[in-house]
Amino acid sequence: MSKEINVGIVGTKFMGRAHSNAFIDVAHFFDLPARPVLRAACGRNVSDLEAFAKRFGWQTTETSWERLVARDDIDLVDICTSNVTHMPIAVAAAKAGKHVFCEKPIAMNAEEARQMLDAACEANVRHMVAFNYRRVPAVMLAKQLIDEGKIGKVRHFNAVYYQDWLVDPNSHIVWRHDVKEGGSGAHGDMNAHTVDLARYLVGEIEAVCGAKEIFVKERPLADGSGMGIVTADDALYFIAKFRDGALGNFMATRFATGRKNYLRLEIFGSEGALIFNLERLNELEYYSRADEGKEQGFRNIVVTEESHPFISAWWPPGHIIGWEHTFIHEVRDLLLAVHRGESVYPDFYDGLRCQQVLDAALESAAEERWVEIPSEA
Ligand SMILES: NC(=O)c1ccc[n+]([C@@H]2O[C@H](COP(=O)([O-])OP(=O)(O)OC[C@H]3O[C@@H](n4cnc5c(N)ncnc54)[C@H](O)[C@@H]3O)[C@@H](O)[C@H]2O)c1
Repeated sequence: MSKEINVGIVGTKFMGRAHSNAFIDVAHFFDLPARPVLRAACGRNVSDLEAFAKRFGWQTTETSWERLVARDDIDLVDICTSNVTHMPIAVAAAKAGKHVFCEKPIAMNAEEARQMLDAACEANVRHMVAFNYRRVPAVMLAKQLIDEGKIGKVRHFNAVYYQDWLVDPNSHIVWRHDVKEGGSGAHGDMNAHTVDLARYLVGEIEAVCGAKEIFVKERPLADGSGMGIVTADDALYFIAKFRDGALGNFMATRFATGRKNYLRLEIFGSEGALIFNLERLNELEYYSRADEGKEQGFRNIVVTEESHPFISAWWPPGHIIGWEHTFIHEVRDLLLAVHRGESVYPDFYDGLRCQQVLDAALESAAEERWVEIPSEA
């Protein structure tokens, strides 16, 4: 079996940088049976593309993703572009026999997500959605504690995801304001993460009821030539019923003044509780009803011990890790899966299930009623 996995990346900006860094760092910290090779980068702007390739060491460049996915020297296509492009690139890549790594939300809607899952299954290639918060060690520890029954039966999963980068009405229009490019706004961007975490930690969601708002309806165009119409939600909140009886609460907004990337989970069970905050990602708060007496209360676990998920590859206890490590962890698992010919999660099925919840919340907000999620994908 080959000792190299040749990667082709599409998209050179925020996620392009995060993923490039992950493919470079992963081999420095993890023992891998196959080494990622940064074979080709694809972008639309030639000078940005060349600068990106030079900075991160991508060996060659392409200005068309169609050419990139057709190349014989690419094994794995990494999709770091705006949401409207995910489905066509992923389907073409799978049909060309490439493994596919795709940023979240998986697609514009569940129908597209299904096409991606079908194409990947038919081609028998590995497929993964980049829900990187599943690979925060503290979130993985929360999963272990829930699975061990440490907090008993989960009653509540409350998730807030707050950012404030749109508070300024003069901040200009980007693709994230346009439903034709993103499918939705804060919802598909931020609730996609928390819905995936809800499915990972608690289980399937049965029904949702939501409300959304666009607070600033017009924004300046980037080139200063006038104003553009905002079509994607600035905020979308919804409540949810889980299949196993828990109640959930999901809040995504880009108007949470003062909050930068504040993703907080509160999980309350019959025997205990867990609290996680992405802005303090090395920590997990845990409360156990079994701890009786006057010392009872939440304890703060600093998730940097060798026994904690992924930490043995990094630093001694207390030497914290950061946001970029979550991408290194997911890329490590993806490369192992590609090498071994095994599945890796979250996969396109998870992307589709998440998308069904997102679609239902959008429908609910538009029609002002509860909407059920299909019981099967
Ligand atoms: N996992 C996370 O934490 C996280 C964070 C931010 C964004 N994302 C997701 O990553 C994806 C990209 O977001 P971003 O923030 O990097 O966006 P961005 O605007 O910073 O970059 C998008 C890139 O895609 C390129 N692109 C768009 N269409 C293209 C095409 N047809 N051919 C070639 N290149 C094309 C753009 O030129 C740009 O380089 C989105 O799906 C987004 O939701 C995930």
